[in-house]
Amino acid sequence: MIRGDDRVAPRREPGGAGRPGAAAARRRRLIVVSNRLPGPPATGPHLVGRETTVGGLAAAILGALQGRPDSLWVGWNGRASAHARGASLAHHRRQGVDLASFPLSATELEGYYHGFCNQTLWPVLHCFQGRVRTRLRDEATYDAVQERFADVLLPLLRPDDLLWVHDYHLIPLGRRLRERGWRGRTGFFLHTPFPPLEMWEVLPRPRAMLEALFEYDVVGFHVPGFLDNYVYCARRLFGAEWDGRRLRQAGRSQVAAVYPVGIDPEAWRPRREGKADADAADDDGDHATRVGDASLANIRLLRGLQDRRLILGVDRLDYTKGIPQRLQAIERFFRRRPEWRRRAVYVQVASPSRAQVPEYAEQRRRIEATLGRVNGELGEPDWTPIRYLYRAYERPLLARLYREADVGLVTPLRDGMNLVAKEYVASQDPADPGVLILSHTAGAAQQLRDALLVNPFVPADVAEGIATALEMPLAERQRRHARLMRTVRESTAEAWADGFVADLEHDAPLRPLHVAEPGLGPITPSL
Ligand code: ADP
Ligand code: F6P
Repeated sequence: MIRGDDRVAPRREPGGAGRPGAAAARRRRLIVVSNRLPGPPATGPHLVGRETTVGGLAAAILGALQGRPDSLWVGWNGRASAHARGASLAHHRRQGVDLASFPLSATELEGYYHGFCNQTLWPVLHCFQGRVRTRLRDEATYDAVQERFADVLLPLLRPDDLLWVHDYHLIPLGRRLRERGWRGRTGFFLHTPFPPLEMWEVLPRPRAMLEALFEYDVVGFHVPGFLDNYVYCARRLFGAEWDGRRLRQAGRSQVAAVYPVGIDPEAWRPRREGKADADAADDDGDHATRVGDASLANIRLLRGLQDRRLILGVDRLDYTKGIPQRLQAIERFFRRRPEWRRRAVYVQVASPSRAQVPEYAEQRRRIEATLGRVNGELGEPDWTPIRYLYRAYERPLLARLYREADVGLVTPLRDGMNLVAKEYVASQDPADPGVLILSHTAGAAQQLRDALLVNPFVPADVAEGIATALEMPLAERQRRHARLMRTVRESTAEAWADGFVADLEHDAPLRPLHVAEPGLGPITPSL
């Protein structure tokens, strides 16, 4: 039996490996590679209807690299170009981080990003078997794009660089680089869940894909359950041996461990509103959450003139986030607890994501039809139960929205970690905090034990959670928030990156890590 707590990588103490200071002079250059890079800075408070670089990966890596001037982040620039092949690398800087980007062609994007990544790998990794589409030509394009990434990287790499590859888009990249002569230390972190063997085997070439993962010196996952699944697959599919720290097979060995991703809590800490412009895009490394009165007034308008209680959901518009199921829970809550009608409102902020993939377009239609029906059936001239904002917001406004919300409703059906949950906690006023409701199926639930943990597949459970949250006494809200905040502060984006990079560099021995104490327990549905 594998003991989860033993396998979680440790937090680094100040002055430890990977921190600025004396060690910095000796630090090796860190090259990070991911499918996508953060997009250009926004010019307004929100980016209506535009696909932006919203997502946990960008948030975590940006947070982690800000303290590492000796790093470079390489990836696709988010655009399709007719001349992608010959295009040169564009170098730029975002929030203090050096970026090098390149375009892909429309054909590459279709087969690689929209196809194999988001219609094959994504549903397999999240256990949505019914949504898996496998097309051999998409898989071939996925392979070809790995070569494109290798072409871009090889001229940049120096022998003693540390190379850190991110997420399911680039699983075979390490192997491609090895085949072309790269010998440097290379790690891989998976930002999604890793599924059980039966699900992994839905992939067209499950063994080859797993062997490609085994090619990395270090492979990391968010939570122990994902590591367990990976180790089990490796034992069953190619007979690897596992000693609790390393996988071994045919003379090769790999460190496989858990590194829970976090946020920079300081960036979300509530501040007094200053005179700063509400529209200021916080793109200069100053993390103050500046929001002017106009924006604040707009947020308060969401509650309505009667100062209603605010229940908030913030997600990429993705079927893994369980938004239709959440809307059913909201409907159930207002039907079964009519005393809360007019006294509460649910606000769903959904940022456009992968809109060209048919499953995502269908999900959007389903969400919009459901909320239209619920608003039509339950709404009153002076009350709309569900408010819907289909857009991405810049961090200052998002932070303010989180802070204003009495309830943060984070109910993905399945999620690698879920940073929205941590951002919501970090944005609260400790004196009068809101309540986090969190799916037990999100990786974050394994750390945030003092949230109200619910089953996102059961609307009655979520509806009960909402009632409990709205009626929770101040002392219990404060107690839960203090404990949640301790975990958020201890498990930051920086600690995540430091832990991974230290193992990549030094392959450190097994050490225990902080694991959150058991929470206040689940709720029993009665609705
Ligand atoms: P995922 O990686 O699947 O998108 P996470 O919850 O881990 O899920 O990360 C989502 C990130 O995207 C968070 O940093 C969150 O602030 C950001 N985000 C989500 N929705 C929006 C939105 N509507 N506007 C701005 N940022 C958003
Ligand atoms: O792991 C989740 C993820 O795929 C990340 O790579 C990224 O943060 C997020 O989802 C957004 O995805 P996309 O780049 O497809 O918009």
